[in-house]
Amino acid sequence: MLEKTMKTSSTMFQDKHHNHSKRERFLGLTLGKGVPFVLSSLLMASVFCLFFLYNPNPSTFTPHQGHDLFENPSQNQQHAIITTKSSSSSSQPQKEQKPCDLSKGHWVQALEGSSTYYTNSSCPSIPDSKNCFRHGRKDSDFLNWRWKPDECELPRFDPRTFLQMVSGKTMAFIGDSVARNHMDSLLCLLSQNEIPKDIYKDSEDRFRKWYFPIHDFTLMMLWSRFLIVGEERMVNGTGSSIFDMELDKVDSDWAKELPNLDYAVISDGHWFFRGMHLHEGGEKVGCVYCNEPNVTSYNVDFPLRKAFRTAFRHISECKECRSKRMVTVLRTFAPAHFENGFWNTGGYCNRTGPMSESEVDFEKFEWQLRNAQMEEFERARSEGDEKGHRFEVVDVARAMLMRPDGHPGEHWGNKWMRGYNDCTHWCLPGPVDMWSELLLSVLKRVAAFDLNQA
Ligand SMILES: *[C@@H]1O[C@H](CO)[C@@H](O)[C@H](O)[C@H]1NC(C)=O
Ligand SMILES: *[C@@H]1O[C@H](CO)[C@@H](O)[C@H](O)[C@H]1NC(C)=O
Ligand SMILES: *[C@@H]1O[C@H](CO)[C@@H](O)[C@H](O)[C@H]1NC(C)=O
Ligand SMILES: *[C@@H]1O[C@H](CO)[C@@H](O)[C@H](O)[C@H]1NC(C)=O
Repeated sequence: MLEKTMKTSSTMFQDKHHNHSKRERFLGLTLGKGVPFVLSSLLMASVFCLFFLYNPNPSTFTPHQGHDLFENPSQNQQHAIITTKSSSSSSQPQKEQKPCDLSKGHWVQALEGSSTYYTNSSCPSIPDSKNCFRHGRKDSDFLNWRWKPDECELPRFDPRTFLQMVSGKTMAFIGDSVARNHMDSLLCLLSQNEIPKDIYKDSEDRFRKWYFPIHDFTLMMLWSRFLIVGEERMVNGTGSSIFDMELDKVDSDWAKELPNLDYAVISDGHWFFRGMHLHEGGEKVGCVYCNEPNVTSYNVDFPLRKAFRTAFRHISECKECRSKRMVTVLRTFAPAHFENGFWNTGGYCNRTGPMSESEVDFEKFEWQLRNAQMEEFERARSEGDEKGHRFEVVDVARAMLMRPDGHPGEHWGNKWMRGYNDCTHWCLPGPVDMWSELLLSVLKRVAAFDLNQA
């Protein structure tokens, strides 16, 4: 049954030229039927959750030692420290230079409407599959929460301030469809101040470009499944959903654009949960979800870590980026929330409010992925500092672990996958809009730093 479902949707996703918006709605993740239930059901739900795109052929997978995931207890990384400065756009006066970790905090109730920046009528560019209200979502209390960092206030998003800060610049979101989800949220937020011109769209709606003429600001989406080179193995002309990964080769589709960018907002992760053959320096170094004699079997965090290391290293070596003072922003992994099942076994996400931090399971594999990203980020930042590259972080993982209520669930308007829930992407408007509040704080921090240097 599971296998049948997966194969069916896999077939639906095979055709490269098939309507992209259908394919793009779900990201995939792959585990076999035989995966032992060593992990908690929550973890399994989270691991299984993301299958929707390019499901692998489950019969090619062999039992996976899930507990390996926890063999190396990951350090509880310190989050980036953001310095908040009082700014004209912030209603609350703040202490100058108070270091504040914006990633640690909790969701507090906001007055109705006070934390919502747009509606489906004031933002016409909401992608249909994220327009939850249009597809029957009735509860709206999930909009009435704001993120309150423990040590400071997070200023409201002010589109004017944002556009002024990026005026004359180019910003790209680089990554998978959740990166796109963030960019679509930012587009809605900014279009409350200036309506951008849609100036480029590729045939699959993966690479996009908008231009804000008044502010001379260009916003781009550079789509990348893995950040590094990953080619699907074809068997008899159809995709096998098994990927050959070049851990040390950056995906040139985004990398070639780097010299044109002032800001690169990088994220990724949901595509890594699938069968992989890992190569480095031309040698096969291992695989993921495999059982081959004399081949090292790794967990998902290994190729993910390598992908970020390779991407960050590539950025660090980009001379044009350095002379442009390009800022690289890591947006950490945002978890999915399938409950009582996996995406294809009836898992759903119909909560109507946030969870408290004590309800969040920090043993979740997603949290480990976030930690791997943060470790690579810290490495890049310390190496980058020496070379004049700037790395910043928008660390959303903790906050979003608490927002099982922010996903479309059944309200994503899919006709041909009716009955499946999207607990991976985020409704617009919704808690995902907070990511741009964090991004704006990072931009302010960078600008304040530049001012001090000048
Ligand atoms: C907008 O949202 C409302 C509910 O807030 C919903 O009834 C309506 O169908 C939506 N309209 C569009 C065009 O998405
Ligand atoms: C590929 O096609 C050949 C010939 O039709 C067939 O014998 C073989 O089993 C196929 N391989 C797979 C993996 O489906
Ligand atoms: C795996 O390695 C062992 C020890 O080096 C060797 O004896 C065996 O033949 C190898 N198996 C394969 C399939 O390469
Ligand atoms: C969520 O969905 C499940 C399964 O359909 C149902 O049993 C439960 O009552 C729903 N919860 C809410 C809050 O709607």
